[in-house]
Amino acid sequence: MKHKIRLGILGGGGDSLIGIVHRIAANMYDRYELVGGCFNPDPEQNRSFADKLELDPTRVYDTIDALVEGENKRPKEDRIQVVSVLTPNFLHFPMAKQLLENDFHVICEKPLTTTYKEALELAALQQTKKAIFAVTYTYTGYPMIRQMKQMIAEGAIGEIQRVDLQYYQGWINPIIHDKDQRQTTWRLQPEKSGISCCVGDIGTHAFDMLEYVTGQEVDRILADLNYLYEDNQMDVDGTILIRMKNNAKGVIRTSQIATGEENNFTVAIYGRKGGLKWEQENPNYLHYLHPDQPFQTYKRGNAYNSAIAQDGVKIPSGHPEGIFDAMGNIYKGVAKAILGEQAFDGEYPSLHEGVRGMQFIEKVVDSHQKGNQWVAME
Ligand SMILES: NC(=O)c1ccc[n+]([C@@H]2O[C@H](COP(=O)([O-])OP(=O)(O)OC[C@H]3O[C@@H](n4cnc5c(N)ncnc54)[C@H](O)[C@@H]3O)[C@@H](O)[C@H]2O)c1
Repeated sequence: MKHKIRLGILGGGGDSLIGIVHRIAANMYDRYELVGGCFNPDPEQNRSFADKLELDPTRVYDTIDALVEGENKRPKEDRIQVVSVLTPNFLHFPMAKQLLENDFHVICEKPLTTTYKEALELAALQQTKKAIFAVTYTYTGYPMIRQMKQMIAEGAIGEIQRVDLQYYQGWINPIIHDKDQRQTTWRLQPEKSGISCCVGDIGTHAFDMLEYVTGQEVDRILADLNYLYEDNQMDVDGTILIRMKNNAKGVIRTSQIATGEENNFTVAIYGRKGGLKWEQENPNYLHYLHPDQPFQTYKRGNAYNSAIAQDGVKIPSGHPEGIFDAMGNIYKGVAKAILGEQAFDGEYPSLHEGVRGMQFIEKVVDSHQKGNQWVAME
């Protein structure tokens, strides 16, 4: 008898960035079996990619409508249980909605939707369906991020007084200065991306991370975005002042025109007693800063780490793990939820985090458009 969770995928074809990360993550703990999907809107490309994956051709569908119809005809014990939505942003909402309506669990890429209103609609629907719904804020799957969260919760740095998150990339720099070049990415097209490029794409990771590691909510924000050109509708850079509910202050700095930067996401949280710092490009280390002694470096895979950080490692200390492993840990958390197994708190980012993320994006654009005013999160 087969016990693996039957997984479907929408998007994430051979031409995509994130597809391979999800496929490897799903396989990492041997909890899922990819059984079908629609990976590309072009039927020929879709089928030739699915052929490479050696999927049953009867479960390779040309559209989401065909997937839902085809899978609904199958007996319950054979039907796809969870579907990952890995398409450009504008398809997340209609696809996730249709999947929920048809009683599939959903793993959806961030940003959850293109508007806050759509995100709330999904949340209401999920309540009625009682489905598992994850939003893949991948970086929260890193063991040393989970360790940071645990240490903050246990008071290792005392009351938080300063937060500083930076997410810098430079990949838009070569294309932003030429109007035709801008058309080469859906991320700069509002109808496909939503109202924000930089904040929607990567600033939202920083926001989610801030609330994840601190266990506290952001209360108010003030944003200053950069569009570089008047005829460009999408932000490519932003500085967002943060006020937390406990009155700690700080900043989210996010850019896709930080020339030469690759995926430089750093998280620094400072409390009365100490600080904790982590860098995505060196994710196996967590730096613990003290006021009166040299800093310490925590490393993944060691028994001194918390149970949730230890649960997310597969090989002994000293062996590097990275983005695939972080996503694998999120898939593991979702598998536990689907199967009703005992899990740690925060093992996968839920729909709630996706909704918060959409609210953040809209508040940031609102603050900027109002002439850089403080606006309250709800
Ligand atoms: N969690 C992360 O760290 C992370 C990283 C990168 C991207 N993402 C998110 O993942 C999503 C996809 O990003 P990407 O960079 O992989 O995009 P991409 O453009 O590289 O790939 C999109 C894929 O979706 C497919 N697709 C498009 N329309 C489709 C349709 N109607 N039906 C089926 N497939 C369709 C395309 O053929 C392609 O394979 C975005 O929402 C993005 O924000 C998240």
